[in-house]
Amino acid sequence: MPGAREAARAALARALRVAALTGAGVSAASGVPTFRGPGGLWRGRRPEELATPAAWARDPEEVWAWYRSRFEALRAAAPNDAHRSLAALARRTRLTLVTQNVDGLHRRAGSEAVIELHGDITRALCERCGARWGLEPGFAIPPRCGRCGGRGRPNAVWFGEALPRDGLERAAEAFAACEVALVVGTSALVEPAASLGRLAARAGAYVIEINPEPTPLTAFADASLRCGAVEGLRSLLPEDDRA
Ligand code: OAD
Repeated sequence: MPGAREAARAALARALRVAALTGAGVSAASGVPTFRGPGGLWRGRRPEELATPAAWARDPEEVWAWYRSRFEALRAAAPNDAHRSLAALARRTRLTLVTQNVDGLHRRAGSEAVIELHGDITRALCERCGARWGLEPGFAIPPRCGRCGGRGRPNAVWFGEALPRDGLERAAEAFAACEVALVVGTSALVEPAASLGRLAARAGAYVIEINPEPTPLTAFADASLRCGAVEGLRSLLPEDDRA
């Protein structure tokens, strides 16, 4: 769709207020498997079976084993040009960057103010006192809180749990007020993040989706780029901003 790409690039070049939502597809080029693509199952289980308070209550060891394997895999992963392009975009626009990813790769690429709606699995969260701390390679299961000795759980938001209120509010405000919304590498199936793109469309923003596959957001998007995140973002940015 070369026409759509040109129009999207022009809309982004004019915009001052930009809101971006990213999902697992943004980290695919870093070798982090998406949830609903190949490699998304763990020991035959879907994330909806493991990322829940019920799974934690039933078998915390298994839940930790899944998160630890993902944490260990992340140590070998590095941010890719899609992460870097979004960090560069923040230097030219007033960008609110919102991610569903828990891999910390946006921060590692230099996006300090990223809103991590689903948490960050490089840290543990104390069930007793609420402290968070960085996990070390080969950590024991379950990790224990250095402050109160309480049991640590993964610092991730699970299905059925509330998202951080402040982050969600700031994300919704940004998507309601932006001129351009970029929705990159998400299946747009998991609420409430999935609604952010539609919210921007309803408020009159120009909505750009980057995803090799159609999603429920496609019908609301002004431009849908059917390609990977690295290529899509690179093609939208002026040369100076490209990673
Ligand atoms: P999904 O695994 O549901 O979707 C990944 C999306 O990325 C799909 O639509 C793919 O088509 C697309 N994709 C694949 N490769 C890509 C690439 N190279 N560039 C761009 N896009 C690509 O991941 P999310 O939408 O992020 O939540 O999943 C949302 C939430 O569901 C996750 O945050 C997680 C999960 O269960 C929790 O754990 C609470």
